Parts: sequence; structure tokens; C-alpha cells
Amino acid sequence: MSERKYRIAVLPGDGTGPEVTAEAVKVMKTAAEKFKFQMEMKDFDWGGDRYLATGNVLPDDAVHQLRKFDAILLGAIGHPKVKPGILEKGILLKLRFDLDQYINLRPVKLYPGVETPLAGKTPEDIDYVVVRENTGGLYTGVGGISMKGTPHEVAIQSMVYNRHQVERCLRYAFDLVCRRHSSGKPWKGLKEKDVKEGKIGQLTLCGKTNVLTFVFDLWERAFYEIAREYPQVKTDYCHVDATCMWMVKNPDWFDVIVTENMFGDIITDLGAITQGGMGIAAGGNINPKGISMFEPIGGSAPKYTGLGVINPLAAICSGAMLLDFIGESEAADSIEKSVELATSTKLKSMAAGKMGYSTSEVGTMVAENI
Ligand code: IPM
Ligand code: MN
Repeated sequence: MSERKYRIAVLPGDGTGPEVTAEAVKVMKTAAEKFKFQMEMKDFDWGGDRYLATGNVLPDDAVHQLRKFDAILLGAIGHPKVKPGILEKGILLKLRFDLDQYINLRPVKLYPGVETPLAGKTPEDIDYVVVRENTGGLYTGVGGISMKGTPHEVAIQSMVYNRHQVERCLRYAFDLVCRRHSSGKPWKGLKEKDVKEGKIGQLTLCGKTNVLTFVFDLWERAFYEIAREYPQVKTDYCHVDATCMWMVKNPDWFDVIVTENMFGDIITDLGAITQGGMGIAAGGNINPKGISMFEPIGGSAPKYTGLGVINPLAAICSGAMLLDFIGESEAADSIEKSVELATSTKLKSMAAGKMGYSTSEVGTMVAENI
């Protein structure tokens, strides 16, 4: 009998969240059978409907309950009948902060057969990872508003970082570069001279050192200090505005990008659209030594709720990232291969309603090819 047994908390959430989550669960369960491990899954109804019915966004002991699991699979948070901010802050951001998921890992990878809006770009060109710091910066909520409602009202929201937060994020990113290229060939974007010097991959710090001269002074100093511990990683720096430009024009220049929270939020939506859109973009909120939470990076897409037309691949890929995180990397790879087969030979489009298949047909197709 298999000794590998995991407990997964499933938060389907709002809108189309439950539909895509069901397909991710279907695929993960198939992978568990094939790769001979066990998963005990428990559903939680946290989201907009529960809030509207009870007035509570989360039960008081929510975080305590989640601590009993190995990982969390999340569908989507966001309900058209709930004022923006309540569920996002009360559920998503609260869990990220309370479980100290200080990394938001967002691969930007164009799968074969997927259409990108970047003219002439192929899967060869678009394959990098964004490491978004996930518990600091503007998202800390430090700030306030005074004289509200008067002509002199003042609003402040501060980008707050301490050295500890910056360092742990940078170290994760440097380690990730090493993991990405640990076996076999160095990253193909390196120059011959870099390879001769022993480099295996590249880490780009995305910042704004020309304007945000306090916060990015801290990031930049920490970046180059830590870089000395990683002589095999080539370092690179890009301002955030230029990063957006290069992500469109020369995405092949990137291997791993590390950045602060809000910049990471913005550039990963850009990254997602270059890889085919929200239907395919997956991510993980990671606490490397704790409980991580995996979610498609798109929202709840409420207008498609219940129609069976939403693309579940982002959720399925998030499930694969979850399995990789808990140590089932063979299962994760096999799901990814099956997704590639589906995008390259079956799906007509990544967009809702245009896939040529229903949500559950896509899930079944991926499950069958594991
Ligand atoms: C994301 C989302 C969230 C964020 C929102 C819903 C709070 O946009 O996961 O990127 O800003 O982090
Ligand atoms: Mn976002």
C-alpha cells in the first residue's frame, strides 16, 4: 500500500470557481490513482454566497482549520453582489497573509497550439516564471484617509518592505533559477560567455530604482548581496515599465523575474495574456515551509457561471503545481504533458465558449491522457 497520503483543502469559491475546481479535482484524482498516492479532499464553502447568507467572510477559525492540510486548492474569489474588496481582502489576502504565503509563483508559459497576441512568438519564446512577493508592499494596507469627504481630504497607501521580507523572496527566486536548470542544459537565453563563466540561468529584478528610491534601494542592495551566494545565476535588472515592454517585444529575454507585490500583480496579468489568457494561467501562493494555496490567476468570471463553457485548464495547471509542491512531481509533469496534448491537438481556443468542448469535456480529456 502506498504510504503517500495528502490532505487537500478545496475552496471552490465564487462564480465559475466551482466548475473549474471540479475539473482540477477530477484530474488530480486520476493522477493519484495512476501514480499511486492518496488524497483526502475536503470542500469549504467560503466565498460570496456564504457571505451574503451569513454576513461572515470566513469563520473565525478558518486559518486554524486550514493548518491541518498539506495544501489548498482555490477556485476563484469575487461575487457580483458583494462590494469589491470585501471578499478579496477578507478571504484571499487574509489567507495569503495569515498563512504567510510570501511567494506568488506565476509561470508564463505558452503551450503548443495556444494563440498568443504577440505576433510571431512561439512556445520557444515565452517560457519564464514571475516570482511575485506576496505579503508586503502596498498590500500591507498601511495608510489611511483623513478629512474624508472634504475638498482637502488626504489618502495615503504605503509601499512597506522590511529586509527580512525582501531577502526571503529573493532567496526563493535565486533557488528557483537553480532548480529550473539543475539538470542538463543551461538556460538557452544565456550568452556563450556567460555559460563559460558557469552561469546556468538568469534572475531579473524588476523594480523602479529611478523613482522609488527607498524601497528599491533596499531591494537592489539585497539582490546584489545575495547574488554573491549564487555565482551560477546571471543577474539582470529592469525597471517595471521597461519590463512590460520587453515582456511583449522580447519575452525570450526572461528566465525568472522577481518583483514586489503590486508590480508582480500587474505584470502577471500582462504575462497571462501573452500565454493565451486567463483560461490557461495558473499560479501558487507559496509558503515554502508551510501551507501553500494554488489558484488560477484569473477571476470568478461570473457571467459564465453554470454554462459549462469556462476553460478549466488554468485550474488544472494550478492543481499540477500543487502536486509538484507536495512532492508528486511525476504526477505534475504528466498532467502538464496531457494539458499540452489537449492544447496542441484538441482545443480550438482558450477563451470561454470557444474551446470546441465543454468545461467537463476538457477536464475528462486531460484526465484520460495522464
Ligand atoms: C491576483 C488578484 C488579487 C491580487 C486580488 C483579487 C486581490 O488580482 O491574485 O492577482 O491583487 O493579488
Ligand atoms: Mn491580479
